[in-house]
Amino acid sequence: MSYTAVILAAGKGVRMKSNLPKVVHKAAGKPLVAHVVDAVQAAGIKDIVVVVGHGREHVEKVFTDDGVQLVVQEEQLGTGHALQQAQEQVDPASTVLVLAGDIPLLRPSTLKALLDYHQQGQAEATVLTTHLEQPTGYGRVLRDEQGYFARIVEEKDASPEEKSINEINSGIYCFQAGSVFRVLQQLRPANAQGEYYLTDVLEILKSEGHRVQVMAAADSEEIHGVNDRIQLAQAEKILRRRKNDQLMRDGVTLVEPDSIMIDSQVTIGRDTVVMPFTLIQGKTIIGEGCEIGPWTNINDSTIGDRVVIESSRVKEAQISDDCVIGPYAYLRPGAQLETQVKVGDFVEIKQSTIGSGSKIPHLSYVGDALVGRQVNIGAGTITCNYDGQHKHQTILEDHVFIGSNTNLVAPVRIGESSVTGAGSTITRDVPAQSLAVERADQRVVPWKKKKQDH
Ligand code: UD1
Ligand code: CA
Repeated sequence: MSYTAVILAAGKGVRMKSNLPKVVHKAAGKPLVAHVVDAVQAAGIKDIVVVVGHGREHVEKVFTDDGVQLVVQEEQLGTGHALQQAQEQVDPASTVLVLAGDIPLLRPSTLKALLDYHQQGQAEATVLTTHLEQPTGYGRVLRDEQGYFARIVEEKDASPEEKSINEINSGIYCFQAGSVFRVLQQLRPANAQGEYYLTDVLEILKSEGHRVQVMAAADSEEIHGVNDRIQLAQAEKILRRRKNDQLMRDGVTLVEPDSIMIDSQVTIGRDTVVMPFTLIQGKTIIGEGCEIGPWTNINDSTIGDRVVIESSRVKEAQISDDCVIGPYAYLRPGAQLETQVKVGDFVEIKQSTIGSGSKIPHLSYVGDALVGRQVNIGAGTITCNYDGQHKHQTILEDHVFIGSNTNLVAPVRIGESSVTGAGSTITRDVPAQSLAVERADQRVVPWKKKKQDH
């Protein structure tokens, strides 16, 4: 059996009160619609069509390279009309899974169970439902005397009696493609919202004598849609908890996990300990046996094994095994640390490679530099890499010792094993095995302070 998933994501999401379409709002660092696409892919479906409309240029940016097809619904005339836009992309002999783009908590296992149930029941349509204590806002599922599916009534069209039903339509369905696209053409917008309701397809199929099934989801949390920013925050919290639980199951220690936020794509090796108030974002990879945090923010970085990072900011950096970072270090894009590098307090590194065993322990700025192995950079040293117009490179060869408070005016190269005197402003290249000192001789003159109390 071949499957196609159609994700309906053309709506505006009025209750978000946003200039962006709802489905590109992020939960746990990932757009809502990308959560849905990932769940569908994890359930084994490769053919995915996303129906876009409102703010579609923003939705298009989410899917630049994942093989997802986009179709446009120019006017948002309802969920039935939205699905109709995908007709050309769907093989009529296939099974089509339809779902909304605003349900980031949906699990692949639930989708697989729905597909299996649909197949086993040889149904024309299967709708996923659940029971909610507060069903307000959702379509209610009406059943006939035998308990079989009868129809779905929307909140706005429901009688008070129907509103008291707490079995709701999740908005997730399986259909035989040929049937659903045939019936979609018969829909009429004869309802309170004047829309073409996809839900009406189920009633029509049933009235034609086809088999329409209901599958109740075990965990109602999964089908919670995000309609406003409060629900977005609730979804975020659940996703974060799931991610943290998964990491802990996989052997990562999270100390006070409620204070730790880790994006869904992040991977962390076993026996790494993450301390409180730490935020790890984007495509970050962290190795085994590291100590990360407290108070640390890392994004889009690769970190080796046994690395210690305390109270620091790391952004688009590469850190190899056994490095020690912080407290209060700032590693910026293009910072590449080889093994056993120490970067201490109030050190900023940008677009620079630091060789194995080198140390930048205190109060330095290193930008556009190539630093060799076993180099020691004294406290307060900075690279003067910018002349007001261009950036220039600083090269420190292996075993260099930079005296405290040196200014390295780039472009400049310090040869192997050379030393600079503390407080020097180095403007010219220094050959290997040399000492470069640039400062005025100290003068000592007799002096008497007026008052002795200071
Ligand atoms: C829909 C269901 C309701 C169900 C609920 C579950 C219908 C008529 N009602 O209601 O029974 O309980 O979902 O969350 O289907 N969309 C488009 N184009 C449109 C309209 C909607 O792409 O013209 C997309 C939206 O972007 C959204 C999804 O379809 O992702 C659902 O639309 P929405 O308007 O939120 O439907 P509900 O009123 O929530
Ligand atoms: Ca909705």
